Amino acid sequence: MVMKVICVKKTDTLKGNVTIQGSKNTVLPIMAATLLGSGVSVIYNCPMIEDVAVMCQLLECLKAKITMENHTLTIDTRNVQYAALPCSLTSKLRSSVLLLGPMLARWKKVELGVPGGCAIGLRPIDIHLQGFRKMNVDIDVQGDVVTGSTYYLQGGVIQLRFPSVGATENLIMTAVVAKGRTILRGVAKEPEIIELCNYLISMGALIEGVGTDILTIKGTGQLSSCDYCNTYDRIVAGTYLLAAVAIPSDIRLYGIDDIGYMKNIIHIVSDMGINVIKRDNYLSVQSFGKVSGGSFRTGIYPDFPTDLLPILITVLMQAEQVSRIEETIFENRLSIIRELAKLGATFDVLDRVVQTRCNYRLCGNTLVATDLRQGAALVIAGMMSEGKSFVTNTRYIARGYEDIVKDLQKLGANIEYV
Ligand code: EPZ
Repeated sequence: MVMKVICVKKTDTLKGNVTIQGSKNTVLPIMAATLLGSGVSVIYNCPMIEDVAVMCQLLECLKAKITMENHTLTIDTRNVQYAALPCSLTSKLRSSVLLLGPMLARWKKVELGVPGGCAIGLRPIDIHLQGFRKMNVDIDVQGDVVTGSTYYLQGGVIQLRFPSVGATENLIMTAVVAKGRTILRGVAKEPEIIELCNYLISMGALIEGVGTDILTIKGTGQLSSCDYCNTYDRIVAGTYLLAAVAIPSDIRLYGIDDIGYMKNIIHIVSDMGINVIKRDNYLSVQSFGKVSGGSFRTGIYPDFPTDLLPILITVLMQAEQVSRIEETIFENRLSIIRELAKLGATFDVLDRVVQTRCNYRLCGNTLVATDLRQGAALVIAGMMSEGKSFVTNTRYIARGYEDIVKDLQKLGANIEYV
């Protein structure tokens, strides 16, 4: 794969329309869930991104037949066959871990290389494993392979020690076919979980408490395949909303059908000084590029999402006040600081708290993407800096943004691949 470099110049205003792509973090678990049925599932509004491509390859290892055309993904699971999933593939994608539950449900056994993903922290899978063990699965990690097996999946009462998004998804996908009733306590409540539950319910699953932190699930054996229309990507939408905080803007974001999923983000950016109005079929965003700083903290939904932290830090460089930003989910989200320093920015960092200074004079430079959201933040930092910046390692950005360059061009940014 040729790795393109993004060249971005100082952008004085953003004006134009863009349609927000389908959600990455919703579609990945739903792709895994198609294994719970034996039929053909059509997924509409699927983003054409690297992570989806890797999930397709993993499902193809299990002999699923897959086609992708114009954002419509068709997955045929009628003739799937058990296979061990190699580390060479699972290490490319954290969400490969989401195949543990559906594979156990389908074949009562699983062998899967340890999941990889962005370098944002340790990302253990102990909460997934503890939950599976409570459901009668003998499962462990040896070296770089997770191996699990069960005679039958048994429902039970499971208390998550932390509301992990991935573990919640895995345990729901297992419980829907397990014997008896499962009560999952302390689960994640992110929109991605709600979408997954609704999808499973349309496959025939019995789930109560959707959107709360206790889910009661009655196992139903096999489910029927069904279609799904993917929702918009709230983090991609949040990326462009935050860009509009720092750069004077008059933009429209299309494709955001239900703003309920990003109320938390809209609330924060509105406090930072932009005007966001929901119109019939778009979000109207206007700003003067004057950022109000303050104190911010990431957290589990509905708090401010950790995925937007690097972008938040970036746009706060434009604020006239000192700001304090605290990350509470991942250990390594603040790696963005090192790259922003190349533009002339300095910060005070203590553990997972960063404090901005004021009156930054940012000057373009060559910046290296090391994870998906940090990479997107660097692109926006380039738009805020004098002269030209180059963002390299853009394969990280391609994992989750279908085409960030095209989107920002539509909004009038000085940006291109070189
Ligand atoms: C999901 O990752 C998202 N990925 C992430 O988005 C997002 O940052 C994260 O949730 C938090 O919102 C997808 O949905 C595909 P977690 P996930 O399990 O499920 C700890 C992006 O940029 N933990 O909720 O992997 C873990 O170390 C990505 O789109 C354990 O300790 O996140 C972390 O500190 C990156 N043990 C915290 O919980 C476990 O078994 C949250 O992780 C599992 C997690």
